[in-house]
Amino acid sequence: MTKPRLYSGMQPSADSLQIGNYIGALMQWREMQQSYDAFFSVVDLHALTVPNDPAELREKTRRTAAQYIAAGIEPSRSTLYVQSHVSAHAELAWILSTVTGFGEAGRMTQFKDKSSRYGTDATSVGLFTYPVLMAADILLYQTDLVPVGDDQKQHVELTRDLAERFNSRYGKAFTVPMPVIQQDTARIYDLQNPTAKMSKSAETDAGVLWLLDDPSKSAKKIMRAVTDSEGSVRYDRQNKPGVSNLLVIYAALSGRQIPSIEDEYAGRGYGDFKKGLAEVVVNEFGPVRERALALLDDPAELDRVLAVNAGKAEEVANKTLADVYDKVGLLRRA
Ligand code: AMP
Ligand code: TRP
Repeated sequence: MTKPRLYSGMQPSADSLQIGNYIGALMQWREMQQSYDAFFSVVDLHALTVPNDPAELREKTRRTAAQYIAAGIEPSRSTLYVQSHVSAHAELAWILSTVTGFGEAGRMTQFKDKSSRYGTDATSVGLFTYPVLMAADILLYQTDLVPVGDDQKQHVELTRDLAERFNSRYGKAFTVPMPVIQQDTARIYDLQNPTAKMSKSAETDAGVLWLLDDPSKSAKKIMRAVTDSEGSVRYDRQNKPGVSNLLVIYAALSGRQIPSIEDEYAGRGYGDFKKGLAEVVVNEFGPVRERALALLDDPAELDRVLAVNAGKAEEVANKTLADVYDKVGLLRRA
């Protein structure tokens, strides 16, 4: 029996991923790759929608791929590749843009947020059509499931609409994918500002745990994390966002349930609890960091692995693209 297909990706927008990417995305990808035919991309074309230094973008792309592998995405089992290595992404995005309504694209809340924050002159057309490129990523692979954070749900809904519209207008070319939205317990908040999502682009570094940071640095950040004055380790997202966030991180990385952690630290102070968490984080991240750095030590080998997987991705993608070109009426090259 063939396994259902899964597709997800992340932008190479920083030198290191943060613990939210690890808990909210990579740990789930790692688990799901066992039962799905999984494709994971480093979406470098998407990263171009905001200004980038070219040499840095190249480096971030490699580093992101290395962290996928270090976190347990197996490049021999899952198709882990770089988006720009498969030219069909940009080509299908063009075709899909011709079936996307201008108003429809304009209703994407992520675009509306970003363009109102930076102004229309500082906003590129690429940022506007970003969701169409994301739809192309997903639809090229006849994807069944798309695991993403809830901020991406609207983009997957658009992808479904475009797939259905194309299929009914031109004949069935695409599988209509389903989003798999990350649970609340997989959402990680900033250690200094625990009501804001932890993010690669956070304003201050002190609230972000980086996968590639020196473990002792991460331990220090945990010891300084914002808590509250109550002094008891218990989960209460509303009234104790800081402690609740630390409990979520502890539970996710240790594989334990939150109540069992609350019990362990009952009657003990936050200092003990943070020390315990720092140990869990260092134990989990230490080996991941080592593996990532080892992979980055041999970029030629890493590039080779990515090239092999780009070849595997291309086989699937080019088939879909050729079918789409035929269906819309482009003349085949003789
Ligand atoms: P980003 O590149 O920051 O958009 O993140 C890529 C993916 O990582 C998202 O789609 C989420 O699945 C996950 N992610 C990012 N930040 C967090 C967070 N703070 N908590 C949980 N998951 C996150
Ligand atoms: N837009 C997604 C994000 O910022 C990244 C992405 C691009 C993606 N293409 C994708 C995610 C396809 C899932 C499937 O997180």
